[in-house]
Amino acid sequence: MQGNVRPETMERITTPELANAFIEEQVKELRAQIGDKKVLLALSGGVDSSVVAALLIRAVGQQLVCVHVNHGLLRKGEPEQVIEVFRNQMNANLVYVDAVDRFLDKLAGVAEPEKKRKIIGAEFIRVFEEEARKLDGIEFLAQGTIYPDILESDGVKAHHNVGGLPEDLRFELVEPVKLLFKDEVRVVGKALGLPDNMVFRQPFPGPGLGVRCLGAITRDRLEAVRESDAILREEFALNGLEGKVWQYFTVVPDFRSVGVKDGKRTFAYPVIIRAVNTTDAMTATVEDVPFELLQHITGRITSEVENVNRVLYDLTPKPSATIEWE
Ligand code: XMP
Repeated sequence: MQGNVRPETMERITTPELANAFIEEQVKELRAQIGDKKVLLALSGGVDSSVVAALLIRAVGQQLVCVHVNHGLLRKGEPEQVIEVFRNQMNANLVYVDAVDRFLDKLAGVAEPEKKRKIIGAEFIRVFEEEARKLDGIEFLAQGTIYPDILESDGVKAHHNVGGLPEDLRFELVEPVKLLFKDEVRVVGKALGLPDNMVFRQPFPGPGLGVRCLGAITRDRLEAVRESDAILREEFALNGLEGKVWQYFTVVPDFRSVGVKDGKRTFAYPVIIRAVNTTDAMTATVEDVPFELLQHITGRITSEVENVNRVLYDLTPKPSATIEWE
């Protein structure tokens, strides 16, 4: 199999034709590597794991077992889309695990951001391990490692990190897109027939909405993050900002403020909108969203999202702020 260094002669995959050639070659290599054995994949629904799933479905079909863990911190509609695209349309062997209560119980009362990240990561591995133990005859573990992961870290990214599995569950790795850059993974995903909103979607942190529901996560504030994020994404798409703005999302802090609705006093949470542009996520500038659109989104969020009475727009570049709030 390919090493961990991208050959200088390797052509950048920029067209459907080049993507198809890559797919053809990978399908051959994957079949040679895997034979008639089974492969396991943690399928988050993000670009990288989705492209790996689609490649493996093409190469080995039902020998691929995808495990989709719903940890309750996904965006609105994401688990449904994973089931629709992979189980219904691509006929994948997909195990859907509803682990929402389990994650939220573990996270209850935990306010420190890094502790929250650790709990989410550790619990993810535990759930994945339990599912892996239920399956017989798995010999390979597929991962959506991409080239920047190899260049920037030890080759394992946080949300694909199932490397923490115990000794007896160490499988041979299958990493078919590990020499590709993100834009190439997207071109390949498109050639594999994945929907645009999966292939071209904005970055989403591994701990998901967990780091956007600030402090100790509560179900009411988590729903406020999910619903306000869905409205923001819908409005950005309707107004030509989808695909133009690098990353945009909402955050709900763990304090309330006074407001008024239907002549009655309210005491509810604010929603903070963040929309930024960057090339490498090391620095970022704030998107100049038209004021009327911000007012329109504010109106929708305050009338449609429960427990919210105020909306703010974060004007801070990185530095001094980070892109996420936690
Ligand atoms: P910050 O907040 O550090 O974010 O400016 C830079 C980029 O990284 C993403 N991010 C994460 N991604 N796990 C991830 O997989 C994480 O824990 C995490 N924290 C931040 C963030 O969304 C932004 O794109």
